Amino acid sequence: MSLYVFILGKNWLLSIAELIVRLDDRGVFEEIVDHSRTAAIVRTTSTLSGEELIDIQASLGGCFKIGHVVKQYDVKIARNAFPKQGRIRKNARLALRECNWVDNVWRRVSGKRIKFGVSSYPSIPSAPRIDLKRFTLGMDEWIKQKLVQMGAKKAVYYAYEEPDRRNASRPNTALWPATIARHNLLTPPNAEILAVFTETSLYLAKSRAVYDSQLQQFRDEARPYISAGISTSPKLCRTLLSLAGARAGDTVLDPFCGTGTLLMEAALLDMKCVGIDINPDVVQGAISNLKWLGHEMGQRFDFTILLGDARDADRIIPFDVDAIAFEPDLGPLYDSPPTRTAAEKQIRELTELYTSTLQALEKRLKPGGRISMTIPAINSDDGQVTLNLDQLVKNTDLSVQYLLPERAFHSEKITDDRLKISPNRLRIYERKRGQIVQREVIMLAKV
Ligand SMILES: C[S@@+](CC[C@H](N)C(=O)[O-])C[C@H]1O[C@@H](n2cnc3c(N)ncnc32)[C@H](O)[C@@H]1O
Repeated sequence: MSLYVFILGKNWLLSIAELIVRLDDRGVFEEIVDHSRTAAIVRTTSTLSGEELIDIQASLGGCFKIGHVVKQYDVKIARNAFPKQGRIRKNARLALRECNWVDNVWRRVSGKRIKFGVSSYPSIPSAPRIDLKRFTLGMDEWIKQKLVQMGAKKAVYYAYEEPDRRNASRPNTALWPATIARHNLLTPPNAEILAVFTETSLYLAKSRAVYDSQLQQFRDEARPYISAGISTSPKLCRTLLSLAGARAGDTVLDPFCGTGTLLMEAALLDMKCVGIDINPDVVQGAISNLKWLGHEMGQRFDFTILLGDARDADRIIPFDVDAIAFEPDLGPLYDSPPTRTAAEKQIRELTELYTSTLQALEKRLKPGGRISMTIPAINSDDGQVTLNLDQLVKNTDLSVQYLLPERAFHSEKITDDRLKISPNRLRIYERKRGQIVQREVIMLAKV
């Protein structure tokens, strides 16, 4: 079965949008067959090799884990076996306890010592409809018994003692990527099993690729030049690279490169990097960050960072690029919401900056190439003020592309409004906690 689960980042809609674009660009996307707010279940056109899965995982900013589906249950079985309230149905427990999928994950276990763990992902994190902690430990125990029955010398699983880092009151039912790495849980005969709940199904999958959280934390915190006020998160940078269609070997341009976060992510994905920034200190900072990362990784990155105005990008760089991705100047950081009139004025000024930048950028973008960027949405004292996308691409050959296209979801049947996706979006909201200037993500193509 070419069915995979992708464990999504916090912004689940943006994560799904990114996933569709990345898999589509690789020519392996068939459809999203099901989803929750924590995972997407994707049918691919072919079975993906371990190497491909690791590559896809690394390229996605909004994906924590990828697993290959080995079993699908009606979700009612799990709910009846481990109800949050009410009566436990014995036959449902027996159905889960059978674990008749275990030999699809572990072919030869005889005489082996096996470490494993189940990570469970509810459909809606704030409102799980089953007792997730008991379910997870129950599955761990039953898998262990099954492995011993099949002849394993020893089987141990991981219990989840640490609370959920984002919400201490919530039991932690999923293994952190760092735990998986520390205990080699992706190396056979060890394994991590993902238990993913959607509105109608429970999918069990074997983890094949996991996000490298330690490497990200290291490059985010240990780099020589940090400017918390302007830096974009490395995860969002990877998402922007995905939406821009950037692949290994491509030349990628960030015309508002700041501290170089996006270029660092691009360099790690074997892309050639070109950056522009108007601030000389920031340019020096970005250069030192890229040099440092190359040194730490033992690699020579191919990068050029130039001082200049993004509106002159076509004159500053004398060659064409394959993809353009950036977080531009989003205007001032307000202490309190501006008036609607002030916010509208600010958005008008920024639109002018972006439009003239896009006019310069399209001259340097290869035909068929894409641009992804964030744009501001200002929370004024009288509602949110957003940017007019027609104005933005005025007098350019760029067109705003649909994210979450309808065709990607054609066989999904979801009834819960909290899970429904309204498709064909021109923009997706990306929340920045506690900020007055929020962001939206858009994708443009040169037609
Ligand atoms: C939001 S920051 C980019 C953050 C960057 N992605 C990072 O992670 O550090 C915007 C950057 O745009 C630069 N900038 C502002 N106006 C510019 C212009 N007209 N041309 C080029 N850079 C500009 C600022 O100096 C700032 O570094």
